[in-house]
Amino acid sequence: MIQKEYIGFGSIGELEFVLAEYSAKRIFLVTAHDSYELSGAKGNLDKIFAGCQVQRFYDFSSNPKIEDVNKGLEAFKKIRPDVVIGVGGGSVIDMAKLINFFASNELEPSEYLKNPESKINISRPLIAIPTTAGSGSEATAFAVLYIDKEKFSIDNEFVLPDVAIVDPDLTTSLPEYITAVTGMDALCQAIESYWCINSTDESKEFAKKAIELVMKNLKTAVNNPDRNSRLAMARAANLAGKAINITKTTAPHAISYPLTSYFGIAHGHAVALTLPAMLEYNAAVTDEDLLDNRGCDYVKKTINEIANILGCKNVDEAKEKITKLMENIGLETGLSKIKTKKDIVATICDGFNQARAANNPRKVTKQALREILRAVR
Ligand SMILES: [Fe+2]
Repeated sequence: MIQKEYIGFGSIGELEFVLAEYSAKRIFLVTAHDSYELSGAKGNLDKIFAGCQVQRFYDFSSNPKIEDVNKGLEAFKKIRPDVVIGVGGGSVIDMAKLINFFASNELEPSEYLKNPESKINISRPLIAIPTTAGSGSEATAFAVLYIDKEKFSIDNEFVLPDVAIVDPDLTTSLPEYITAVTGMDALCQAIESYWCINSTDESKEFAKKAIELVMKNLKTAVNNPDRNSRLAMARAANLAGKAINITKTTAPHAISYPLTSYFGIAHGHAVALTLPAMLEYNAAVTDEDLLDNRGCDYVKKTINEIANILGCKNVDEAKEKITKLMENIGLETGLSKIKTKKDIVATICDGFNQARAANNPRKVTKQALREILRAVR
């Protein structure tokens, strides 16, 4: 499916023409609780929605849970919409994708997960409007879903939004912390995509541009935001989304899911915590633990290329640079601050997502994971 995209300041105005093209009169609108208004999206969309019937769904927490998706499916049935619009961060857009996908196909989420090969029909038109610069969810054909703290990924071409409207104006009121963690999500997605065993020339080109944009602009976007840095970060997040749409993510994402579901660490922060250690780990790949068919030398060359794109001569410098960036944007770089009665290392090892780790260029054994986590203390 070819996606239509509009990127730039003021691009939210295009929604009026998009709705006219679909002759949309009934709209199912998925948003977050507060950010819909705070981002300025509500002010813009209220005018565009004049004359339309709108059912808004915002009664859910971040990181989509199956109970929330089921609530959304009930709300969807009340309006039987012509189009679905998701306006918000990655969780909100994922929620819009999930509800649209299951409702349009009259599927029970848990039934589908038992049989993901079931016949899928085209879903209703889905329009994604991000209000953060991070997840790139507007550009991907998958959505995250949690069932009892376990993470699943719904992965289907009909999950990809038909239209993406990326207007950096909507990110101008984001708090520093959200700008920081979502920006790190974009950086991690781009770097993981670059070293992923599924990478292609096209995905590496998207990822390279995204890494460069984040390294040049994230610090400013967090500490001293201006129009240029907001636009650059919106582009970076979208490019990183396009990159992982081809490759999927790898080990740092796999490790991050239990950090988020058990310890409440924001997604982008959870992913970034192990990125420097994983860069070093992947650089030390051997023939015995290699997962990329292109060979050990190829992986080592790729990791060096990543260091160079980050503006560094070698992996040690690159590790240092990523850690410095996290410090400069106010993010903790270790796990020791998490106060919990649970054993963090054991919880992460138990909840480790093998599917995403299988995309990593170097095999991550439980023993290796323990060592990586100890290095992030
Ligand atoms: Fe992510």
